[in-house]
Amino acid sequence: MGKPVAIVTGAGSGIGLAVATHLYSQGYKVVIADLNPTTGEGAASKLGADAKFIKCDVASYPDQARLFKQAYEWGGNRLDFCHANAGIDDRQMLYEPEEKEQLDENGLLKPLNTKSMQVNLEAVIQGLWLFKYYVRRSKEAGGGKGKFVATSSGAGLYYMTTNPQYTASKYGVVGFTRAAGPVFVKEGITVNCLCPGFIPTNLCPPGLLEIWPKEHITPLSTAIKAIDACLGDDTMTGQAVELSQENIYFRKMVDYPNESQRWIGEESLSLWDKAYEKPAERKLY
Ligand SMILES: NC(=O)c1ccc[n+]([C@@H]2O[C@H](COP(=O)([O-])OP(=O)(O)OC[C@H]3O[C@@H](n4cnc5c(N)ncnc54)[C@H](O)[C@@H]3O)[C@@H](O)[C@H]2O)c1
Repeated sequence: MGKPVAIVTGAGSGIGLAVATHLYSQGYKVVIADLNPTTGEGAASKLGADAKFIKCDVASYPDQARLFKQAYEWGGNRLDFCHANAGIDDRQMLYEPEEKEQLDENGLLKPLNTKSMQVNLEAVIQGLWLFKYYVRRSKEAGGGKGKFVATSSGAGLYYMTTNPQYTASKYGVVGFTRAAGPVFVKEGITVNCLCPGFIPTNLCPPGLLEIWPKEHITPLSTAIKAIDACLGDDTMTGQAVELSQENIYFRKMVDYPNESQRWIGEESLSLWDKAYEKPAERKLY
């Protein structure tokens, strides 16, 4: 049987590059998916023959769909691992003081740039959608079980006032992971996410690193620790793994404030399942 096959998005730089390099060293065939062909090609050729660069804008569904198909075929009709990691910070400030430049020809305010939501959250959701399709079709080539890891952020557990859309996207990744993880594990696909603290990468705005206190840096090796935790356990799913300094922490969701909310959260599931069994009767607005 062939080697297991991995896709890492945003693998031209930073966390994605470190994870792709690690997977390669663990015997994976690795697809480096990135918007940037210079860093992406460079990373793939540095790794070797079992790495391939595929240019992809994860915010475009056709691009991602093509990425997954090409990766699956290149891997010998097999896909085992996906790290949906590409991410960007907010491209427009919600708090901009002066908006008059932003009116359209009808005098209406143009929408806020929410590209960070598309790259950081929507692409993760579509990524899992595509991943499970190809994992299910990997059995004949020796696969059929899958591990999906998304990159959220510490901002997905707390918040970042400087990046509100980014914060929303990263909270979304945590919620999506917690909701989908316990379901997909039943068919052998685990779904987890990483919530890194501050890791010095190209994501940092210019000048920040020079003024950032060294004691609040998380090394890339902690991201690898978290990836190894995901790789090494077929039952670990729905987890938000926080990375801080040398450590990883499995974060719980917020407490229920009372018994009623606990009942809704944990015991009402069979009622929802029953109600959703009748899709024809559903009112879709
Ligand atoms: N560095 C940190 O401190 C930190 C903390 C928390 C979360 N994160 C998250 O980690 C992930 C990786 O970030 P990083 O710190 O390694 O940053 P990075 O800028 O070094 O790497 C991000 C990579 O993603 C690529 N990319 C950007 N938009 C893309 C798109 N639309 N399609 C495909 N590729 C795209 C970039 O070209 C780049 O190679 C991101 O999701 C980021 O939000 C980083």
